[in-house]
Amino acid sequence: MWEMLRIKVLFVCVGLFFLLCCCSVTASVTYDGKAIKINGQRRILFSGSIHYPRSTPEMWPGLIQKAKEGGLDVIQTYVFWNGHEPSPGQYYFEGRYDLVRFIKLAQQAGLYVHLRIGLYVCAEWNFGGFPVWLKYVPGIAFRTDNGPFKAAMQKFTEKIVNLMKSEKLFESQGGPIIMSQIENEYGPVEWEIGAPGKAYTKWAAEMAVGLDTGVPWIMCKQEDAPDPIIDTCNGFYCEGFTPNKNYKPKMWTEAWTGWYTEFGGPIHNRPVEDLAYSVARFIQNNGSFVNYYMYHGGTNFGRTAAGLFVATSYDYDAPIDEYGLPREPKWGHLRDLHKAIKLCEPSLVSAYPTVTWPGKNLEVHVFKSKSSCAAFLANYDPSSPAKVTFQNMQYDLPPWSISILPDCKNAVFNTARVSSKSSQMKMTPVSGGAFSWQSYIEETVSADDSDTIAKNGLWEQISITRDGSDYLWYLTDVNIHPNEGFLKNGQSPVLTVMSAGHALHVFINGQLAGTVYGSLENPKLTFSNNVKLRAGINKISLLSAAVGLPNVGLHFETWNTGVLGPVTLKGLNEGTRDLTKQKWSYKVGLKGEDLSLHTLSGSSSVEWVQGSLLAQKQPLTWYKATFNAPEGNDPLALDMNTMGKGQIWINGESIGRHWPEYKASGNCGGCSYAGIYTEKKCLSNCGEASQRWYHVPRSWLKPSGNFLVVFEELGGDPTGISFVRRTT
Ligand SMILES: *[C@@H]1O[C@H](CO)[C@@H](O)[C@H](O)[C@H]1NC(C)=O
Repeated sequence: MWEMLRIKVLFVCVGLFFLLCCCSVTASVTYDGKAIKINGQRRILFSGSIHYPRSTPEMWPGLIQKAKEGGLDVIQTYVFWNGHEPSPGQYYFEGRYDLVRFIKLAQQAGLYVHLRIGLYVCAEWNFGGFPVWLKYVPGIAFRTDNGPFKAAMQKFTEKIVNLMKSEKLFESQGGPIIMSQIENEYGPVEWEIGAPGKAYTKWAAEMAVGLDTGVPWIMCKQEDAPDPIIDTCNGFYCEGFTPNKNYKPKMWTEAWTGWYTEFGGPIHNRPVEDLAYSVARFIQNNGSFVNYYMYHGGTNFGRTAAGLFVATSYDYDAPIDEYGLPREPKWGHLRDLHKAIKLCEPSLVSAYPTVTWPGKNLEVHVFKSKSSCAAFLANYDPSSPAKVTFQNMQYDLPPWSISILPDCKNAVFNTARVSSKSSQMKMTPVSGGAFSWQSYIEETVSADDSDTIAKNGLWEQISITRDGSDYLWYLTDVNIHPNEGFLKNGQSPVLTVMSAGHALHVFINGQLAGTVYGSLENPKLTFSNNVKLRAGINKISLLSAAVGLPNVGLHFETWNTGVLGPVTLKGLNEGTRDLTKQKWSYKVGLKGEDLSLHTLSGSSSVEWVQGSLLAQKQPLTWYKATFNAPEGNDPLALDMNTMGKGQIWINGESIGRHWPEYKASGNCGGCSYAGIYTEKKCLSNCGEASQRWYHVPRSWLKPSGNFLVVFEELGGDPTGISFVRRTT
């Protein structure tokens, strides 16, 4: 009898347990026309993009903490496929690519995560996040109704979803991930390619939903996102956006906080008054989710920056700067905005706004529920302040601003009144921050060197390098008959080389004959110059350099890099000789790369010189130095202003590409926060190096015996390189 009762009690307990478990597991994140619902509660959520490979694991906790203190609820990141699967089936989830660790840190800080799987991510990231090997899968075409592409995309999407599930990271499993994304800004592509694009969208949506994550999926810039996927908005402003169904919430996946820097371009700044205005305007118009792209931009370490010419710094004028420091007043003003809007949350999630127009360019939104009331007073005039009377009180509004009244009485925040202190970011030279350099000059290669590959004609660069290096040598011989007229009359022939980009150094018989770059407007380039040739065999060595692979554009995977010709020699007895189709030899990468000169052990394989023999203003030169870590904890950078173009390594880690020689062109005028912002407004740095400072993460340094290597393509003055501290 007692035994029976015990068993019954046990059954009830098990049943209760099951009930609790089952109900917290199923559909913990849902949505309706108003907002995302977490455990049944509609939420107004602020989110910020922090891309894990653009900082170091040592920086992650600090960045996430600052995001939390800045009033964010969610961390958003893309998943960077090419970092995780460098060759087919070889996976990498360590170091800066330790996605699970990054998500768990967000969870430990009490934040949610929005995981944008893509797999296309754009992101100013090399090849838009696709591994380069994917381009060489037979029969493949990216981002369309193509069997090989869909198979590869499904395989890696499953890999990521399964990894997240196995670590219990979806909110439906008690984890922090409340949402995922499939594809990325595909709408415009679909519009261009038509039927196969539509079929692919449908396939991607079904594939994603079929993975049963228990949390919603979104597609951004995808007006026809199939149910139950939510279509969302990206841009500088999104107040006018409406999702494709009235039962989906209005979400802003990318509120652009600034813009990225390109080599050759200026620095873009977005005034926080305008950013806050755009967010308040979105919220008052039914918006319930805002993600800042970027909240921390970070650094394109290594060769992860995309073409064309995306800089190593991905600072983005974000609320947390590249170095992990709050950018004031941007960070603080947004924190104050989030506080004000959170005070309105009870009204915002339970009512639609009533809109009135008290005057020209003025608008009032009131969210009134049974128990609460919140109001937004807006002045859209870009030049005149305004007075608005609301519920018998008068409110002053600066031009282009919105005041927030969480109780329909007190204006606790105005988007244009910044009370956070601004702080000047400084780069302070580190005393004794100069280096003692040694140099080694890279050898020019020629066609008869042993480790070259011979082919007929000119080949596309990436088809040969597979992006294993920025560099590819194109090598050929030209036989000049002793009877050539130019040998007597001194009129040197003209060598013309047409290249698809991105940079080219031309050597004749080992001597540099010229360097040409593509421009930001056009990656294609032409070298055309008189060259010194002698009777007999002449060695033509073309060093073609890629500066990142494209990340955006219709079928960008088919765009070419390198010397595709024609290559001609004009001014011979025969007229013009076409070298395009003759035999060319190829050598991938630099000798210094083969020898791993960027590492301590590799560097001992060649003879370096120093002192009066140190190479100065020499193209294709390697420099090395050892140094002690600068004292203190301030973030560090290298001042590269006296250098041309190349790459930097510290203790074997790649800091990225440097290119201070390429000055910022653009119109750096004044900057008013008021009026529609575009990335053409509020520029700075014109006439200066687009990027002068290069972030050196503290965690990559030891107290002493650090090893710094710079490869310089153009020729620079290494004695001008020094450490600076980032301070405010
Ligand atoms: C908010 O959403 C409701 C319901 O869809 C709609 O009727 C109303 O026009 C929207 N208001 C604004 C300001 O967008």
